[in-house]
Amino acid sequence: MNIQGKSRYHEVYARSLRDPEGFWAEAAREIDWIEPARKIFDPAMGLYGRWFSDAVVNTCYNALDRHVAGGRADQTALIHDSPLAGRISKFTYAQLLHEVQTLAAVLQDFGVGKGDRVVLYMPMVPEAVVAMLACARIGAVHSVVFGGFAAKELATRIDDAKPKLIFSASCGLEPGRLVQYKPLLDEAIRLSSAKPGACIILQRPQQACELTAGRDHDWAKLRTDAIASKKSAACVPVKATDPLYILYTSGTTGKPKGVVRDNGGHLVALKWSMFNLYGVKPGEVWWCASDIGWVVGHSYIVYGPLFHGTTSIMYEGKPIGTPDAGAFWRVISEHKAVAFFTAPTAFRAIKKEDPEGKFIRQYDLSQFRTLFLAGERADPPTVEWAEQRLKVPVIDHWWQTETGWCIAGNPMGLGQLPVKHGSPTVPMPGYQVDVVDEAARPLPPGGMGSIVIKLPLPPGCLPTLWEQDERCKEAYFNEFPGYYKTSDAGYKDEDGYLYVMGRTDDIINVAGHRLSTGGMEEILASHPDVAECAVLGIKDTVKGEVPCGFLVLKAGVTRGAAEVEKDVVALVREKLGPVAAFKLAITVARLPKTRSGKILRGTIKKIADGEPWTIPATIEDPKVLDEIGEALKRRT
Ligand code: COA
Ligand code: AMP
Repeated sequence: MNIQGKSRYHEVYARSLRDPEGFWAEAAREIDWIEPARKIFDPAMGLYGRWFSDAVVNTCYNALDRHVAGGRADQTALIHDSPLAGRISKFTYAQLLHEVQTLAAVLQDFGVGKGDRVVLYMPMVPEAVVAMLACARIGAVHSVVFGGFAAKELATRIDDAKPKLIFSASCGLEPGRLVQYKPLLDEAIRLSSAKPGACIILQRPQQACELTAGRDHDWAKLRTDAIASKKSAACVPVKATDPLYILYTSGTTGKPKGVVRDNGGHLVALKWSMFNLYGVKPGEVWWCASDIGWVVGHSYIVYGPLFHGTTSIMYEGKPIGTPDAGAFWRVISEHKAVAFFTAPTAFRAIKKEDPEGKFIRQYDLSQFRTLFLAGERADPPTVEWAEQRLKVPVIDHWWQTETGWCIAGNPMGLGQLPVKHGSPTVPMPGYQVDVVDEAARPLPPGGMGSIVIKLPLPPGCLPTLWEQDERCKEAYFNEFPGYYKTSDAGYKDEDGYLYVMGRTDDIINVAGHRLSTGGMEEILASHPDVAECAVLGIKDTVKGEVPCGFLVLKAGVTRGAAEVEKDVVALVREKLGPVAAFKLAITVARLPKTRSGKILRGTIKKIADGEPWTIPATIEDPKVLDEIGEALKRRT
């Protein structure tokens, strides 16, 4: 395939590897620095060097103030479109700045300052964006916890981040039910040892909650009082290398990893990506339908689009059922979005409801140019379906919470490269991506191996894990010296296109959400009747994968297996949260193991997915595999 075409990609990418400092110094000119970097990269600093090590900046200034000063005061910065609340609200750059200045002053009144952590446990409301930016404005470090996580998960994150203050809300809206956040917040604070000094609670009109005296404060009242007394916080200068946020992501144990994002590198990388990768220009309307609790939401609902002076849509709804499978097309058409970013799972859900794409034809999508997919591999049938019906390029791109932006994609602004279904295309500038064997030797085209990125990582990627340098080295840098280990496996083809096929650890991807099966096993094993268990991801037509738990009960358990199965399903929901979508637990007499006692998860998965499998040579007793097959047949 001729992949050179008219794209500037090859020239730009080659330069980024040949002269990284020159490349990123040029990209950094797009940012308003308080003190620009004299040192673009300091190899001696941090775990693998730090970008813009002596620069001083403010992230919020670059998201808001500079656009207000530069003529975008009256342009809409944020559109909040909530079919669940039946409401659309809009904020211009000037209005959003005013909200942020006010809330930042409120934070300062609570004694929150540079370096202090602030946790957000919030639904998809504009106030959450205001709170993130208010933290950035005063140099506080936010940590947003996805609303679908349960109290215990929130507590773990509170204990790790030790926030001075928590932002939350009375409720979140899910189709057909209200999620009461306050009882979850109270339970999390009860469970945690690092108690916050205060909580600021947004009372939503759908359902208010009781505030805890002495700890909780009413968001609206604080805001009104601050406006009445004309409080307003200025931007606090921070080092480019200071943390902007911590975002927890599943690790290989139940304990999540606190991925740290810095201010300077993040600004430069995200700003660069908005046009060069996504092909979006300042002033245009952009929509990313993720949740602010995920990295995609941080980068492309909040920061990237605002750094770039675009209008960002924040959507509180689902692809289907709010009210129908035309919801996405309605939003794109109504707000005139030129580009849209979501997860493939959302498209599979739409395709199931509206296989012919009838809803698409009901809307004027003439200004819509590109669809971007990420969060999980974009499976070729879903990509084809979307291409045929939407008649725009459908671009898969691969990234991780750790990188904060795209590792491999198809750069629309530099000139689109030919799309190959099943591949997220090619590495972005600054990422030297290799596929290697166990001894870190690069594999030839077509060779399946571990995907690694040569150090240093480009700007925007994690410098470390929050207060855990050693864990960071162990998780990412030790196994393949000189490289960052992505824990994804795949191959490159002869054109250099990358294929990302799956994880090499215990992480599974459920509806674009990253979850650890090890964490779920810990919960199952905590049930008093469970002797042994294994959780693995099995194929699901909409969510890609769903977790399935196999249980072996303790000898002498008198309760029926069905009861224990129900218990563990409830336990995962209670301890991890509904986001785990853990609905399937199957009791078996024993688990298939190797002679050395390792559970044969890979073989169980193949049986469950209906894929061809062979009896592993090391198996202790091959008959167990038939028993697993029988148990799986009984599940439907
Ligand atoms: N607060 C509380 N609960 C939440 C929640 C939140 N913010 N988000 C999801 N949940 C709950 C859901 O209500 C659901 O609960 P249930 O078991 O009672 O039905 C459960 O968590 C699973 O949610 P979800 O994964 O959203 O599945 P779904 O069945 O409700 O919808 C899809 C399926 C495919 C439509 C949906 O997953 C989707 O749109 N995914 C897009 C994924 C995405 O944007 N990923 C971000 C990475 S780019
Ligand atoms: P998260 O950190 O939640 O963004 O999840 C990152 C993981 O999701 C990656 O390590 C991959 O396993 C998977 N992933 C994300 N995007 C893609 C993609 N475009 N193709 C294949 N896998 C992906």
